[in-house]
Amino acid sequence: MRKPVQIAPSLLSADFGNLEAELAQLDPQLADYLHIDVMDGNFVPNLTIGPLVIDAIHQRSNIPLDVHLMIEKPERYLKDFKASGAQLLTVHQEACRHLQACLRDIRALGMKAGASLNPSTPVEMLSQVLPDLDLILLMTVNPGFGGQEFIPQMTDKIRACKKMIGSYPIELSVDGGIKRSNIREVYEAGADLCVSGSEIFSQPSYNEAIRQLKAACQS
Ligand code: DX5
Ligand code: ZN
Repeated sequence: MRKPVQIAPSLLSADFGNLEAELAQLDPQLADYLHIDVMDGNFVPNLTIGPLVIDAIHQRSNIPLDVHLMIEKPERYLKDFKASGAQLLTVHQEACRHLQACLRDIRALGMKAGASLNPSTPVEMLSQVLPDLDLILLMTVNPGFGGQEFIPQMTDKIRACKKMIGSYPIELSVDGGIKRSNIREVYEAGADLCVSGSEIFSQPSYNEAIRQLKAACQS
């Protein structure tokens, strides 16, 4: 029996003027991780938040933090993100010159190590670091902004990635354009964890939105 899909609400679509209230609305029994997008205006065109705000979020929520670094040379900040409360830290393969060393260092700090790929990067770019990974995050949109459309050819990429992972204990996560209408397709292709921002935070009940995403994957 396949494990049920896990959902990570992406805070990027939440109301940043009211974060405490937003966090209080998320049921830790339903949200498996809280996905936090860190952008540097360099690797991606947008800018968001850093360890200071993540630390404040950590103080106000007991949902495990899944921190997605869309920053150049992420190895400079691993200790800071550990100190801010990240349990899972994901770096982009394209932004990290010595990826194996970076993943090793993330684990040495006591966090789970993730690597992310942009839509145009082949899954084979991670084939030599599979023993160093706890999670692969496939971008199903070009990173930088919430509310974009899922890129259709990513479904085949998810399948290829699942095949490459084989028996390694690596979770496969997908990020971008995940909605009630396509979550079943990505789950069936092999995604274990689905990040979802605008789909959840545009609905009156965030918990109901998460429930509906989970229900869409059940037969
Ligand atoms: C985009 C971010 C995503 C984003 C997803 O660069 O990495 O996590 O919040 O948002 P939706 O689900 O709206 O596509
Ligand atoms: Zn993300």
